[in-house]
Amino acid sequence: MASRRRMSLFGGIALICAIAAGGQAAAQQFPPEQINQGATLYASNCASCHGEKMKNPPWAIDLATFPRDSRARFIDAVTYGVRNMPPWGDVIKPDGVAALWAYLVAGEAK
Ligand code: HEC
Repeated sequence: MASRRRMSLFGGIALICAIAAGGQAAAQQFPPEQINQGATLYASNCASCHGEKMKNPPWAIDLATFPRDSRARFIDAVTYGVRNMPPWGDVIKPDGVAALWAYLVAGEAK
């Protein structure tokens, strides 16, 4: 099961790498492509627990309230997992985790 998910993610990850290779914008400024990539990753990996578009999470914490100045905490939690939250580091590349952060900060929180 895990390997099938990995396979289907692969195309997406390659695309993200291509887009993100353009470089990271300065703090809290995110290119729309990066936010869109984050939205796609979120929809396929995170929404089942954290709620569609970060709204009304079925049981995990509400990411809409995650502190916007805690980027490092977000990156660590997503990459390595925290308590009941599974680690994503072997499924989602650092570029993808950065895109998820862009989506969290700029995508749904406007
Ligand atoms: C299997 C359900 C599940 C999935 C899927 C999931 N999470 Fe979580 N997540 C949780 C739970 C449960 C917690 C609360 C962990 C705790 O504190 O016990 C959590 C916590 C978090 C936190 C907060 C960590 C902190 O420091 O407070 C972040 C950020 C987060 N998740 C991001 C994500 C992202 C991004 C994804 C998609 C890549 C994702 N989660 C997918 C269940 C999930």
